[in-house]
Amino acid sequence: MANQKVNFKTERELQEAILQEKAIGTPDLEIGQKYGVTFRYIERLITRSQGLNISALKVSKKIKTLHPKDFKEEQTTVWSFKQRGNWATHSGEYRGNWSPYIPRNVILKYSKPGELVLDYFCGAGTTAVECKLLGRRCIALDINDKAIELAKKNVDFNASPQQLTFIIDEKKAFQIYEPELSVGDARDLSFLQDNSIDLICAHPPYANILYYTDSKEGDLSFFDIDDFLKEMTIVAKESFRVLKPGKQCAILIGDTRRKKHVIPLGFKLINVYLDAGFKLKELIIKRQHNCKTTGFWYGNSIKYNFLLLAHEYLPIFEKPKSSVPISVEKRGVDYGLVVPAIGKPILKRKLDEFETTTVWILPEKDFEERLNKNVIDRYSNGQDYSIITFVSHSKNDMNFTGRNIQKDKELLFIKSPFLNNSPSRSNIEYYLKETKEIVNRNLPNISEGGFFAIQTQDVRIDGYIEPLAKKLVDMLTLDNLWLKEIVVVTQETQNPHIDKSEGHLNITHQYLLVYEKTKRDKYV
Ligand SMILES: C[S@@+](CC[C@H](N)C(=O)[O-])C[C@H]1O[C@@H](n2cnc3c(N)ncnc32)[C@H](O)[C@@H]1O
Repeated sequence: MANQKVNFKTERELQEAILQEKAIGTPDLEIGQKYGVTFRYIERLITRSQGLNISALKVSKKIKTLHPKDFKEEQTTVWSFKQRGNWATHSGEYRGNWSPYIPRNVILKYSKPGELVLDYFCGAGTTAVECKLLGRRCIALDINDKAIELAKKNVDFNASPQQLTFIIDEKKAFQIYEPELSVGDARDLSFLQDNSIDLICAHPPYANILYYTDSKEGDLSFFDIDDFLKEMTIVAKESFRVLKPGKQCAILIGDTRRKKHVIPLGFKLINVYLDAGFKLKELIIKRQHNCKTTGFWYGNSIKYNFLLLAHEYLPIFEKPKSSVPISVEKRGVDYGLVVPAIGKPILKRKLDEFETTTVWILPEKDFEERLNKNVIDRYSNGQDYSIITFVSHSKNDMNFTGRNIQKDKELLFIKSPFLNNSPSRSNIEYYLKETKEIVNRNLPNISEGGFFAIQTQDVRIDGYIEPLAKKLVDMLTLDNLWLKEIVVVTQETQNPHIDKSEGHLNITHQYLLVYEKTKRDKYV
């Protein structure tokens, strides 16, 4: 059944089939595999058609195991969990709850046993359950009394320190702390003292995507994007106040679409936390599973030229230690002159299949070629494109490009492989400025409906992330240039090289920002 190929003419037909499957009790995993849709798609569809009825949810399931089998902490910036995780009382019943693998990884990486964790968007209590299992103290709030009732049932299980102690590295006596759960508003943490929390780990409601209550006052899921971000400004400021200096705050957030263009909600929320005073310690990509590339989505993704959203962001913010200067870790290499050069790579192979979601996992061997081919074939006719590559001066054997590309191009693809080799801050500043100029200069030469594609990546400087994709998105705000896609590109490697020397995650993903030149002035 899972591999059966299903084709529909319209999305409505697809949705009706999914709702019928739900009605006969088919599990989400099976629906996802059969129809090639994500959990989030199923969630949204069901919430739209049936509302969110938490009181009907079953709790008190029989606990089979208190821990995930063969758990390994994540070491790279791409996190991907094939199963959502159903140990202890965890279950996928509460719409929009996060996989327990996320708080488990965050808690293990950024806190110690006995420390105090705050989740101000508690939901069904996934973080609170993990805190109990991992010997951390926990305070969790939710605006919805029904969610808190459910969370209280979920944290109400018996476990002895002997059952739990094996996962904790430290030799200290293991203690279990009962989480403190209460109804409350993430915007008002006045009951907490300044500098009192060791870790914040939270998953906000997505602006106007899934409704969590029947319009309870203060429920942020009812605010549209700009108002949601405004309210999150208060949450971010409160987070900064209550967190101890030098400690972390992890927030999961995804993008959304309006009129077939992407609204970079993830990057916008990162700005809100940075403006509150946080630094960006890591920018993790959380992949969504169940995105099959056949059937309905395959055909429509190509016909209407869009990708299915299949990733979310998990920024790890840090409240800097005010009195201690930021430690200077490995400095970037200064390449002197980094120059954009124009060229046209030879594309030999034909693709068997296009990528159809926002996460492209390409083989290490012919990574660049596969990536180029996907971009060029999807966003041009295969002829009218140009590629500009930022290369370090010494390596350059192509033509410099002070000049513009020829007129009526369908695609200008800007690549920057030099970012791979720890560039310096001045290289990066130059790169951002020059990319903006290239886009401005060449915009008149791109035909209407044509594209700019920018391949870029985050880099780490002085121990913090320079989120270059976010910076480019912040910077490229021309009226007739619409952000069409934010794609995450990563290599399919069995054993990624892990450099744990500085305690950071290995940055293993890149981004592809796709902009469309349009006639209309604004997108909303
Ligand atoms: C994405 S869910 C969190 C799910 C949770 N991580 C879990 O695994 O169950 C977001 C939660 O935020 C809650 N919420 C919305 N506005 C809130 C506010 N102003 N303060 C606190 N909680 C709020 C919603 O009721 C919802 O339960």
